[in-house]
Amino acid sequence: MTTDNRQQETQFLSLLRTASKSDLKVLAKLLSPYLADTELRQMKVWGDQSRLHLERATIPLNDLLLNTRSGHITIEKDCFFGHRCMLLTGTHDYTKLGRERLTTVPDSGRDIHIKEGVWLGSGVTVLGPAVIGENAVVAAGSLVIGDVPPNTIMAGHPAKKVKKIDGSDAN
Ligand SMILES: CC(C)(COP(=O)(O)OP(=O)(O)OC[C@H]1O[C@@H](n2cnc3c(N)ncnc32)[C@H](O)[C@@H]1OP(=O)(O)O)[C@@H](O)C(=O)NCCC(=O)NCCS
Repeated sequence: MTTDNRQQETQFLSLLRTASKSDLKVLAKLLSPYLADTELRQMKVWGDQSRLHLERATIPLNDLLLNTRSGHITIEKDCFFGHRCMLLTGTHDYTKLGRERLTTVPDSGRDIHIKEGVWLGSGVTVLGPAVIGENAVVAAGSLVIGDVPPNTIMAGHPAKKVKKIDGSDAN
């Protein structure tokens, strides 16, 4: 950052500090389309970032939520995601009660592996452990529990095989 930029930033921040509530509301309105756009493109990691393995993830992940509390998440190349997808390794021990349930989180055993060329439609949730096979497609809004065979289209709650990607019967 140049000295000029730093000065501009300092001036802007002092303006913000002295701005009235109504000035801030106007600013928020002006910024909201940019914030919304950023939000739609911003992936989020809940847990240890080093458990995330993005193999040449050249395609934007959008606002994917990656929970690495109870496992590693691997995404191979050429995968893409609709908006509001979630890959969740984390869980709690439901046999415990109260605060203990909140704090009893397994550290491992619920890895999620998304293989090459997978497309998850918008609003898909994957619960670990799960392997999503090569080129599989998961329909918008589906809940994946367990593995998905390669080249298969899955849909529903929980997601079931709908057909193969060549259009043939999945079974
Ligand atoms: C998966 C998808 C591509 C399938 O498209 P399609 O081949 O035209 O789907 P069809 O209409 O032939 O559906 C096949 C079956 O799956 C069912 N199905 C399709 N999408 C479904 C969904 N989201 N949830 C539950 N069932 C679904 C259909 O009802 C149909 O069932 P039937 O054979 O009993 O009638 C499409 O449904 C989808 O989800 N696209 C993602 C959209 C999206 O997220 N866009 C954002 C950009 S990434």
